[in-house]
Amino acid sequence: MTRRSHIPLHEAFATARAAGGHAPSVLGSRPWIIGGGGDRITLGADPDKRLDVADPLAREPVLSCGAALYGIRVALRALGVRPEVRTLPDPDRPALLAEITSAGEADPGSTDRRLYAAIERRRTHRGLFERALSDGAVLRGLGDAAALEGAALRQVTDPDRVRSLSGLVTAAEHLHRVERPGTEEQDRWVRAQGDPRAEGVHAEDFPAPGAGAPVFPERDYGRVTGLREARGTEIGTVALLTTASDDRAAHLAAGQALHRVLLTAADAGYAAAFHTQPLEEPLLRAFITERFCAGEHPQMLLRLGRPAPEDRVDQGPDDLPGGVSGIA
Ligand SMILES: Cc1cc2nc3c(=O)[nH]c(=O)nc-3n(C[C@H](O)[C@H](O)[C@H](O)COP(=O)(O)O)c2cc1C
Repeated sequence: MTRRSHIPLHEAFATARAAGGHAPSVLGSRPWIIGGGGDRITLGADPDKRLDVADPLAREPVLSCGAALYGIRVALRALGVRPEVRTLPDPDRPALLAEITSAGEADPGSTDRRLYAAIERRRTHRGLFERALSDGAVLRGLGDAAALEGAALRQVTDPDRVRSLSGLVTAAEHLHRVERPGTEEQDRWVRAQGDPRAEGVHAEDFPAPGAGAPVFPERDYGRVTGLREARGTEIGTVALLTTASDDRAAHLAAGQALHRVLLTAADAGYAAAFHTQPLEEPLLRAFITERFCAGEHPQMLLRLGRPAPEDRVDQGPDDLPGGVSGIA
């Protein structure tokens, strides 16, 4: 059968598998196993990528897998396939997070195509921005993107509350530096300049010491030194991504919402920086739940803004089979 995008079904699925692998993930660990064949995709959690010290309940790896799931879904839609998604399909196989098949043809809208095209351009930002995201229409679009995936994006506008959140990030980061040295869990994902492995956080991706944001400290990627120069002057627009419940299904939904928000932002020329350190501390997370999220569960803490021109990604890797340009 020929798809509306003129790509055979099995090629659309192969392209979607590759698109899933471009999702953001905690420490760049890519904690998913994307399998299946023909016109079926399976998405599983990789047991070798667990973060037993930072995240014993595996919230962040599951959230990362949710982001991969959104990449798969939007790719299929952009390629003319209506995805049928069964999440957590087998209680006896808890590591199997989703199964994706075809529910027939879809007429890809321009939004599907634009979000798919943004997959290769989206990158995590670290450090300051050239300017904050203050465009009301774009912010509303990000809120809608989160809501469509069953989550909420809560902007924190009061400067005192922004300072309080920054203080919680600082507290968590200090705790981790004192309490986690010698755990090789995070070091495992820190990559020196030129390291060819795609997984992990590379020296090229994070600021040199002293060049990051003066508030909202970066994670300690300290085994190697970051290479990014200090650029920009703005912290950006601070927001929390939240969900009403806090089980695996909610974490999977939060990941899909995160990726949809990030692609919507990238499409409009904005990027996000993340500071999830306090969400790895149960007491700090409970405090943020109550005081910043009206009892909803915080899944991600973000800063959103427009990166300086040198930090923008105009063109990403071109390894998505079927090529974005072919369907745009
Ligand atoms: C659940 C989750 C938590 C993250 N936490 C942080 C964080 O605390 N600090 C940070 O700089 N990046 C964080 N990131 C971003 C990842 O490090 C980033 O996605 C990964 O290195 C891949 O790079 P890319 O997003 O540019 O493709 C997080 C991403 C996810 C999905």
